[in-house]
Amino acid sequence: MAVIMDGKALSIKLKNALKNEVDELKNSGVNPCLAVIIVGNNPASKIYVNNKKKSCEELGIKSLEYALPEETTEEELLGIIDELNKNEEVDGILCQLPLPSHICEKNVINAISPEKDVDAFHPENVGHIMIGDYTFLPCTPAGVMEILKEYEIDVAGKNCVVVGRSNIVGKPMTMLLLKENATVTVCHSRTQDLASFTKQADVLVSAVGKPNLITADMVKENAVVIDVAINRLDSGKLCGDVDFENVKEKASFITPVPGGVGPMTIATLMKNTVTSAKKKVK
Ligand code: GUN
Repeated sequence: MAVIMDGKALSIKLKNALKNEVDELKNSGVNPCLAVIIVGNNPASKIYVNNKKKSCEELGIKSLEYALPEETTEEELLGIIDELNKNEEVDGILCQLPLPSHICEKNVINAISPEKDVDAFHPENVGHIMIGDYTFLPCTPAGVMEILKEYEIDVAGKNCVVVGRSNIVGKPMTMLLLKENATVTVCHSRTQDLASFTKQADVLVSAVGKPNLITADMVKENAVVIDVAINRLDSGKLCGDVDFENVKEKASFITPVPGGVGPMTIATLMKNTVTSAKKKVK
Protein backbone atom coordinates (compact mmCIF):
# COMPACT_ATOMS: atom_id res chain seq x y z
CA MET A 1 0.00 0.00 0.00
CA ALA A 2 1.12 3.51 -0.84
CA VAL A 3 2.41 6.11 1.58
CA ILE A 4 -0.36 8.69 1.94
CA MET A 5 1.27 12.09 1.47
CA ASP A 6 -0.02 14.44 4.15
CA GLY A 7 -0.31 17.87 2.54
CA LYS A 8 -2.26 19.19 5.49
CA ALA A 9 0.56 18.45 7.96
CA LEU A 10 3.19 19.84 5.58
CA SER A 11 1.15 23.02 5.05
CA ILE A 12 1.02 23.54 8.84
CA LYS A 13 4.80 23.13 9.05
CA LEU A 14 5.36 25.64 6.23
CA LYS A 15 2.84 28.09 7.67
CA ASN A 16 4.54 27.92 11.08
CA ALA A 17 7.84 28.89 9.45
CA LEU A 18 6.07 31.68 7.57
CA LYS A 19 4.50 32.94 10.79
CA ASN A 20 8.01 33.58 12.13
CA GLU A 21 8.80 35.55 8.98
CA VAL A 22 5.61 37.58 9.38
CA ASP A 23 6.57 38.34 13.01
CA GLU A 24 10.00 39.51 11.87
CA LEU A 25 8.47 41.69 9.16
CA LYS A 26 6.14 43.26 11.71
CA ASN A 27 9.09 43.94 14.01
CA SER A 28 10.68 45.89 11.18
CA GLY A 29 7.47 47.86 10.63
CA VAL A 30 6.07 45.95 7.65
CA ASN A 31 2.54 44.52 7.99
CA PRO A 32 1.86 42.00 5.21
CA CYS A 33 -1.56 42.44 3.64
CA LEU A 34 -3.49 40.34 1.13
CA ALA A 35 -6.60 41.58 -0.71
CA VAL A 36 -8.97 38.82 -1.80
CA ILE A 37 -11.76 39.52 -4.27
CA ILE A 38 -14.67 37.19 -4.91
CA VAL A 39 -17.48 37.96 -7.34
CA GLY A 40 -20.79 36.09 -7.10
CA ASN A 41 -21.90 33.04 -5.17
CA ASN A 42 -19.92 30.06 -6.45
CA PRO A 43 -20.03 27.76 -3.37
CA ALA A 44 -16.61 26.20 -3.99
CA SER A 45 -15.03 29.65 -4.45
CA LYS A 46 -16.58 30.82 -1.19
CA ILE A 47 -14.97 27.90 0.67
CA TYR A 48 -11.57 28.53 -0.96
CA VAL A 49 -11.69 32.25 -0.16
CA ASN A 50 -12.68 31.51 3.43
CA ASN A 51 -9.77 29.11 3.81
CA LYS A 52 -7.41 31.76 2.42
CA LYS A 53 -8.77 34.30 4.91
CA LYS A 54 -8.38 31.81 7.78
CA SER A 55 -4.75 31.15 6.87
CA CYS A 56 -4.04 34.90 6.80
CA GLU A 57 -5.47 35.16 10.32
CA GLU A 58 -3.36 32.22 11.54
CA LEU A 59 -0.19 33.86 10.23
CA GLY A 60 -1.00 37.41 11.29
CA ILE A 61 -1.32 38.59 7.68
CA LYS A 62 -3.95 41.29 7.28
CA SER A 63 -6.65 40.27 4.81
CA LEU A 64 -8.99 42.63 3.00
CA GLU A 65 -12.03 40.88 1.61
CA TYR A 66 -14.07 42.17 -1.30
CA ALA A 67 -17.19 40.00 -1.62
CA LEU A 68 -18.89 41.51 -4.66
CA PRO A 69 -22.36 40.68 -6.00
CA GLU A 70 -22.84 38.57 -9.14
CA GLU A 71 -24.02 41.66 -11.09
CA THR A 72 -20.74 43.55 -10.54
CA THR A 73 -19.60 44.96 -13.89
CA GLU A 74 -16.14 44.42 -15.29
CA GLU A 75 -15.57 48.18 -15.05
CA GLU A 76 -16.41 48.18 -11.34
CA LEU A 77 -14.11 45.24 -10.70
CA LEU A 78 -11.27 46.83 -12.68
CA GLY A 79 -11.81 50.02 -10.65
CA ILE A 80 -11.34 48.12 -7.37
CA ILE A 81 -8.21 46.40 -8.71
CA ASP A 82 -6.82 49.77 -9.79
CA GLU A 83 -7.31 51.13 -6.26
CA LEU A 84 -5.67 48.05 -4.72
CA ASN A 85 -2.73 48.35 -7.14
CA LYS A 86 -2.19 51.91 -5.91
CA ASN A 87 -2.79 51.13 -2.22
CA GLU A 88 0.67 50.85 -0.66
CA GLU A 89 -0.69 48.89 2.30
CA VAL A 90 -1.60 46.00 -0.02
CA ASP A 91 1.14 43.45 -0.86
CA GLY A 92 -0.94 40.87 -2.70
CA ILE A 93 -4.13 40.90 -4.78
CA LEU A 94 -6.06 37.75 -5.57
CA CYS A 95 -9.25 37.62 -7.60
CA GLN A 96 -10.86 34.21 -7.17
CA LEU A 97 -11.65 32.43 -10.44
CA PRO A 98 -13.94 31.57 -12.12
CA LEU A 99 -15.61 34.93 -12.62
CA PRO A 100 -19.21 35.39 -13.81
CA SER A 101 -19.41 34.99 -17.59
CA HIS A 102 -20.03 38.71 -18.29
CA ILE A 103 -16.55 39.54 -16.92
CA CYS A 104 -13.49 38.84 -19.07
CA GLU A 105 -10.99 36.89 -16.96
CA LYS A 106 -8.10 37.92 -19.16
CA ASN A 107 -8.81 41.64 -18.61
CA VAL A 108 -8.95 41.08 -14.86
CA ILE A 109 -5.74 39.03 -14.71
CA ASN A 110 -3.94 41.61 -16.85
CA ALA A 111 -5.14 44.46 -14.61
CA ILE A 112 -3.51 43.12 -11.42
CA SER A 113 -0.08 44.66 -10.95
CA PRO A 114 2.53 41.92 -11.62
CA GLU A 115 4.23 43.09 -8.40
CA LYS A 116 1.14 42.16 -6.35
CA ASP A 117 0.07 39.14 -8.41
CA VAL A 118 0.40 36.48 -5.70
CA ASP A 119 -1.43 33.93 -7.91
CA ALA A 120 1.27 34.39 -10.60
CA PHE A 121 -1.44 34.53 -13.27
CA HIS A 122 -0.32 37.77 -15.00
CA PRO A 123 1.36 37.11 -18.37
CA GLU A 124 4.52 38.80 -17.11
CA ASN A 125 4.76 36.36 -14.20
CA VAL A 126 3.78 33.43 -16.42
CA GLY A 127 6.71 34.43 -18.64
CA HIS A 128 9.04 34.39 -15.63
CA ILE A 129 7.84 30.88 -14.76
CA MET A 130 8.40 29.78 -18.36
CA ILE A 131 12.07 30.79 -18.21
CA GLY A 132 12.49 29.44 -14.67
CA ASP A 133 13.25 32.80 -13.08
CA TYR A 134 10.45 33.98 -10.83
CA THR A 135 9.48 35.79 -7.64
CA PHE A 136 5.93 34.50 -7.33
CA LEU A 137 5.48 30.74 -7.40
CA PRO A 138 2.41 29.33 -9.16
CA CYS A 139 0.49 28.28 -6.01
CA THR A 140 -0.81 24.79 -6.75
CA PRO A 141 2.14 23.51 -8.82
CA ALA A 142 4.60 24.88 -6.26
CA GLY A 143 2.58 23.13 -3.54
CA VAL A 144 2.94 19.86 -5.46
CA MET A 145 6.72 20.36 -5.76
CA GLU A 146 6.94 20.95 -1.98
CA ILE A 147 5.09 17.69 -1.32
CA LEU A 148 7.49 15.82 -3.63
CA LYS A 149 10.47 17.42 -1.87
CA GLU A 150 9.11 16.56 1.60
CA TYR A 151 8.84 12.87 0.62
CA GLU A 152 12.28 12.96 -1.07
CA ILE A 153 10.91 12.14 -4.51
CA ASP A 154 13.44 13.27 -7.09
CA VAL A 155 11.79 13.78 -10.49
CA ALA A 156 15.04 14.26 -12.45
CA GLY A 157 15.04 11.96 -15.45
CA LYS A 158 11.66 10.48 -14.48
CA ASN A 159 8.65 10.13 -16.71
CA CYS A 160 6.15 12.64 -15.38
CA VAL A 161 2.68 12.79 -16.89
CA VAL A 162 0.46 15.82 -16.23
CA VAL A 163 -3.22 15.33 -17.05
CA GLY A 164 -4.82 18.72 -17.67
CA ARG A 165 -3.47 21.78 -19.48
CA SER A 166 -5.03 24.68 -17.57
CA ASN A 167 -3.21 27.97 -17.12
CA ILE A 168 -3.69 27.60 -13.34
CA VAL A 169 -2.27 24.10 -12.90
CA GLY A 170 -1.36 21.98 -15.94
CA LYS A 171 0.89 24.40 -17.81
CA PRO A 172 2.84 25.83 -14.82
CA MET A 173 3.07 22.30 -13.32
CA THR A 174 4.79 21.21 -16.52
CA MET A 175 7.28 24.08 -16.23
CA LEU A 176 8.19 23.33 -12.60
CA LEU A 177 8.71 19.63 -13.33
CA LEU A 178 10.85 20.53 -16.35
CA LYS A 179 12.93 22.86 -14.20
CA GLU A 180 13.68 19.85 -11.99
CA ASN A 181 14.80 17.89 -15.06
CA ALA A 182 11.80 15.60 -15.42
CA THR A 183 10.68 14.31 -18.80
CA VAL A 184 7.15 15.71 -18.97
CA THR A 185 4.17 14.64 -21.05
CA VAL A 186 1.00 16.73 -20.97
CA CYS A 187 -2.32 14.98 -21.63
CA HIS A 188 -5.69 16.69 -22.01
CA SER A 189 -9.28 16.25 -23.13
CA ARG A 190 -8.25 15.60 -26.74
CA THR A 191 -5.56 13.05 -25.87
CA GLN A 192 -6.24 9.73 -27.57
CA ASP A 193 -5.82 6.68 -25.33
CA LEU A 194 -5.03 8.51 -22.09
CA ALA A 195 -4.20 5.23 -20.32
CA SER A 196 -1.34 4.50 -22.73
CA PHE A 197 0.38 7.65 -21.38
CA THR A 198 -0.56 7.38 -17.70
CA LYS A 199 0.69 3.76 -17.56
CA GLN A 200 4.17 5.05 -18.41
CA ALA A 201 4.22 7.62 -15.61
CA ASP A 202 6.68 7.36 -12.72
CA VAL A 203 4.96 10.48 -11.40
CA LEU A 204 1.35 11.09 -12.40
CA VAL A 205 -0.28 14.46 -11.71
CA SER A 206 -3.99 14.75 -12.45
CA ALA A 207 -5.66 18.17 -12.56
CA VAL A 208 -8.87 17.70 -14.51
CA GLY A 209 -11.89 17.76 -12.19
CA LYS A 210 -13.47 14.42 -13.09
CA PRO A 211 -14.10 11.83 -10.36
CA ASN A 212 -12.61 8.38 -11.10
CA LEU A 213 -10.81 9.58 -14.24
CA ILE A 214 -7.67 7.76 -13.06
CA THR A 215 -8.34 4.12 -12.23
CA ALA A 216 -5.88 1.52 -10.96
CA ASP A 217 -5.46 -0.13 -14.38
CA MET A 218 -4.15 3.22 -15.72
CA VAL A 219 -1.38 3.48 -13.12
CA LYS A 220 2.07 1.91 -13.22
CA GLU A 221 3.10 -0.27 -10.27
CA ASN A 222 4.83 1.90 -7.60
CA ALA A 223 4.03 5.18 -9.34
CA VAL A 224 3.78 8.44 -7.39
CA VAL A 225 0.22 9.75 -7.83
CA ILE A 226 -0.66 13.38 -7.16
CA ASP A 227 -4.34 14.33 -7.25
CA VAL A 228 -4.86 18.07 -7.72
CA ALA A 229 -8.62 18.02 -8.35
CA ILE A 230 -11.30 18.78 -5.78
CA ASN A 231 -14.71 17.48 -6.89
CA ARG A 232 -17.88 17.44 -4.86
CA LEU A 233 -20.03 14.34 -5.33
CA ASP A 234 -23.85 14.45 -5.10
CA SER A 235 -23.48 12.89 -1.65
CA GLY A 236 -21.59 16.05 -0.60
CA LYS A 237 -18.34 14.08 -0.22
CA LEU A 238 -15.14 15.57 -1.69
CA CYS A 239 -12.98 13.55 -4.04
CA GLY A 240 -10.26 14.07 -6.62
CA ASP A 241 -9.69 12.64 -10.11
CA VAL A 242 -8.13 9.44 -8.79
CA ASP A 243 -9.94 6.29 -7.66
CA PHE A 244 -8.07 6.60 -4.37
CA GLU A 245 -9.13 3.32 -2.71
CA ASN A 246 -7.89 1.14 -5.56
CA VAL A 247 -4.96 3.24 -6.79
CA LYS A 248 -3.44 3.44 -3.29
CA GLU A 249 -2.93 -0.35 -3.43
CA LYS A 250 -0.74 0.01 -6.53
CA ALA A 251 1.08 3.34 -6.08
CA SER A 252 4.14 3.91 -3.89
CA PHE A 253 2.98 7.40 -2.82
CA ILE A 254 -0.40 9.08 -3.22
CA THR A 255 -2.04 12.36 -2.14
CA PRO A 256 -5.51 12.20 -0.57
CA VAL A 257 -8.42 14.55 -1.35
CA PRO A 258 -9.04 16.44 0.86
CA GLY A 259 -5.82 16.93 2.83
CA GLY A 260 -3.32 16.58 -0.03
CA VAL A 261 -2.55 19.34 -2.51
CA GLY A 262 -5.34 21.77 -1.47
CA PRO A 263 -3.77 23.00 1.79
CA MET A 264 -0.41 23.36 0.02
CA THR A 265 -1.91 25.77 -2.53
CA ILE A 266 -2.85 28.08 0.32
CA ALA A 267 0.54 27.71 2.01
CA THR A 268 2.20 28.85 -1.24
CA LEU A 269 -0.18 31.80 -1.50
CA MET A 270 0.87 32.83 2.01
CA LYS A 271 4.53 32.45 1.00
CA ASN A 272 3.99 34.68 -2.04
CA THR A 273 2.30 37.32 0.11
CA VAL A 274 5.24 37.30 2.54
CA THR A 275 7.69 37.47 -0.40
CA SER A 276 5.86 40.51 -1.73
CA ALA A 277 5.81 42.24 1.67
CA LYS A 278 9.56 41.64 2.10
CA LYS A 279 10.18 44.09 -0.78
CA LYS A 280 9.18 46.85 1.63
CA VAL A 281 11.96 46.11 4.15
CA LYS A 282 14.45 48.96 3.90
N1 GUN B 1 -9.66 29.21 -8.75
C1 GUN B 1 -9.22 27.94 -8.59
N2 GUN B 1 -7.95 27.94 -8.14
C2 GUN B 1 -7.60 29.23 -8.01
C3 GUN B 1 -6.40 29.86 -7.56
O1 GUN B 1 -5.39 29.23 -7.23
N3 GUN B 1 -6.42 31.23 -7.56
C4 GUN B 1 -7.52 31.94 -7.96
N4 GUN B 1 -7.43 33.28 -7.94
N5 GUN B 1 -8.63 31.38 -8.37
C5 GUN B 1 -8.66 30.02 -8.38
